[in-house]
Amino acid sequence: MEICEIFVAGAGLMGSGIAQICAQAGYQVVMRDMSDDILAKSLKTVKWSVGKLVEKGKVDGTVDDIMDRLAVTTDLAPAAEADFVFEAIIEDLDAKRALFAELDRICPGHAILATNTSSIPVTEIAAVTQRVGQVVGTHFFSPVPLMKAVEIVKGLGTSNKTVDAADQLCRSIGKEPIRIKIDVAGIVLNRINFPSVVEAIKLVESGVATVEDIDKGVRLGFARLMGPFETADMTGLDVGYRAMLTVYRETRDPKFYPPMLLQRKVKLGHLGRKTGIGWYRYDEKGNKLGPAEF
Ligand SMILES: NC(=O)c1ccc[n+]([C@@H]2O[C@H](COP(=O)([O-])OP(=O)(O)OC[C@H]3O[C@@H](n4cnc5c(N)ncnc54)[C@H](O)[C@@H]3O)[C@@H](O)[C@H]2O)c1
Repeated sequence: MEICEIFVAGAGLMGSGIAQICAQAGYQVVMRDMSDDILAKSLKTVKWSVGKLVEKGKVDGTVDDIMDRLAVTTDLAPAAEADFVFEAIIEDLDAKRALFAELDRICPGHAILATNTSSIPVTEIAAVTQRVGQVVGTHFFSPVPLMKAVEIVKGLGTSNKTVDAADQLCRSIGKEPIRIKIDVAGIVLNRINFPSVVEAIKLVESGVATVEDIDKGVRLGFARLMGPFETADMTGLDVGYRAMLTVYRETRDPKFYPPMLLQRKVKLGHLGRKTGIGWYRYDEKGNKLGPAEF
């Protein structure tokens, strides 16, 4: 199947990154979110990021050419033209199921629907559609324009043809697919990563080490670009919290249970960079000011 038109649902951190790399790769993209303000903010971020990549010679073409391939809308109707849909809305089963039911009604029969969920089993989302074989997981990593990995998740009913098509599309937008053969909550990389994040938070909670020292240690000791708290501030504490809780609910394994401090921070709205405070504090331009007090 030839894929020309891509529809991206959700223009937040992940949706805007996915839309960007698709436009960079030459696809026609329509990105949908709930308000013009969100879309304007997203377009500004994408334009800035494309500009940096063009400047460094990492992307072919001009900023204008790439941005011309990316349209935005608050309407779902343009999904009627899509060959492939990437869903990257909030991590909420009811919201995703409602959207997939609508997409299933609107999209052409041949279209593939992919979810970027971090933790919800693909099968649970696919079940509301009449095209279970054409629903797949494509789990990207943040920041999407830079991180190469994408987990391709086969739901219980996903056809091999759909998995292959998603794999090929992801390669064509510059990613390295990792095939996930069984649809488990949290997929593979989060299942490996979450227990260490839970442990890092518990170590801070009990005063063993500071947020800054743990981040520094993980960066220098494990050769990571960011420590767990820096990463959490970028991805959003609420996103991580919901994902951990979903994995915990499915497995009942306490190693995935979100620690108390994380729960309290989420309740307080200390969600990371997007709210100016998470594990660290940030100024209006996003510069890190120092660790948040708690
Ligand atoms: N943040 C990460 O690092 C990360 C990594 C991998 C996967 N994910 C997953 O990707 C998805 C999106 O995460 P995010 O970090 O981009 O969240 P986000 O909060 O930055 O963005 C979500 C966007 O979806 C919009 N939205 C809500 N309902 C919608 C609908 N019906 N149609 C269109 N837009 C809608 C919201 O207005 C918001 O702008 C989640 O499922 C998350 O678990 C996130």
